[in-house]
Amino acid sequence: LGNTVLSQVSTHRPFGGVVPNLAMREHQKNLIPILEHTLKEAHMLTRVTKSITVNKKQKASGARLEKAVEKILVREPILLEYAQKFFKKYLPPDIDAIAVTYGPGLEPALWVGVNFAKALSAMWGKPIIPTNHLEGHIYASWLSEGTPPQFPLLALIVSGGHTELLLVKNHLRYTRLGETRDDADGEAFDKVAKMLGLGYPGGPEISKIAEHGKSDAFDFPRPMIHSGDFDFSYSGLKTSVLYTLQDLEPARQTQKRSSVAPIKISTKRKADIAASFQQAAVDVLIKKSAQALKKYKPKSFVVGGGVIANKKLRSSLETLVHKLFPETQLYLAPMWLTGDNAAMIAAAAFFRGIPKKKISGLSANGGLKLS
Ligand code: KG4
Ligand code: ZN
Repeated sequence: LGNTVLSQVSTHRPFGGVVPNLAMREHQKNLIPILEHTLKEAHMLTRVTKSITVNKKQKASGARLEKAVEKILVREPILLEYAQKFFKKYLPPDIDAIAVTYGPGLEPALWVGVNFAKALSAMWGKPIIPTNHLEGHIYASWLSEGTPPQFPLLALIVSGGHTELLLVKNHLRYTRLGETRDDADGEAFDKVAKMLGLGYPGGPEISKIAEHGKSDAFDFPRPMIHSGDFDFSYSGLKTSVLYTLQDLEPARQTQKRSSVAPIKISTKRKADIAASFQQAAVDVLIKKSAQALKKYKPKSFVVGGGVIANKKLRSSLETLVHKLFPETQLYLAPMWLTGDNAAMIAAAAFFRGIPKKKISGLSANGGLKLS
C-alpha cells in the first residue's frame, strides 16, 4: 500500500562507507517523516480532530502511554521528539502488526528501528513481528507480479554483508548450503571501487564503468570456484585487483593498503579492471548456483540482495537457468526491491505471522542467522 526508501548514501559518501554513529542519527531524524510519507501513500494518515472528546480515563491512559514511549526511546532523544509530535497529530492506522528488522546488520543502527517499533507498538496497541533482514531479501520475490515462487527452492542472497546459498523446503524452513568465508560479494565490489577511486557504494559505480571495459582484459582469480562445496571467498580476488593496480602504478606499492590514493591509470584501463573483476565475481556465483541447481533440482531459484541490481549478474543468471535448468523458475528480485527496503520486510513478516505469545525484551542481533 505504501513503501518509502530513504537513502543515506550522500551522508556516508564522504567517508567511503557507512558510519554507525551517523546512521543512528539519520535514522532518528528520518523514521517519522518516512512513516508519515508511507501512511499518506497508503491513505492511512488520519489527523486527530478537535471534535474527539476525551474523557478522564482516556486522558490518564494517554499520559501513561506517553510515559512508556519516553522510556522506550530514552536512548533516541531526537526520534522521541519527532515521535511525540507525530502521536499528538495522527490517529493509529488500521494495520494488523508492525514488522521490524532486528538483524543481521550494524547493531547500533538496528536498535533504533527496534526501539521505534516498540514505541509504535505501545502507542498503537499492535503486535511486533521481529523479522530477519535476509529473509526479507528472499521474500522480495513474492512481491513480483505473477505466480509466486514454489518450494523446494534455492535461494541466493548477495548483498553488502552476505553471500549465502540456501535450500528452502517450505516457508521459513532454511538449510544453509554455503556462505562466504571472508568478504561478501557486495563488500568486494565496494572495496575494489575504492581502490579504483570510484564513489560509494561501489557496486553501481563498478557496473557502470564495466560496460565500457573488456571482461577478459585481466585474468583475476575465481576463488573457491572448484572447491566442490557451496562456500565463497572474495578476499583473494580483491587482493589480486590491488596487486594488479600496484603493478600498473609502482608508486602505489609504498602506500598503506587502507589508504585511498587518487588513481592515475587511464579510464580505459580502469574500465577493463572493473569489467574483469565483475566477470570473476559473477563467474563464481554462476558456478556455485549451477552446482546447487544440479544437485537439488529446486522448483524455483530466488535471488535477492543489493548486488542483484547488477545487470551482468542478472543476465548471466537468466542465461544459466534458461539454457541448463529450464525446469526451474528463476525469480530475480524486482529492481525496485534489490536494495534494502521495507516492503520486503513486510512480505517476510506476512509469512512469519503474528507471534502467538507477546514478545518481551526484543533485542537487535547483529549476527542473526536464518533458521
Ligand atoms: O542489500 P543491500 O542494499 O544492503 C545490505 O544488506 O548489505 O546491498 C548493498 C550492496 C552494496 O555492497 C552495493 O555496492 C551492492 O549491493 N550493489 C551492487 C550494485 N548495486 C548495489 N553491486 C554490484 N552491482 C550493482 N549494480
Ligand atoms: Zn540488504
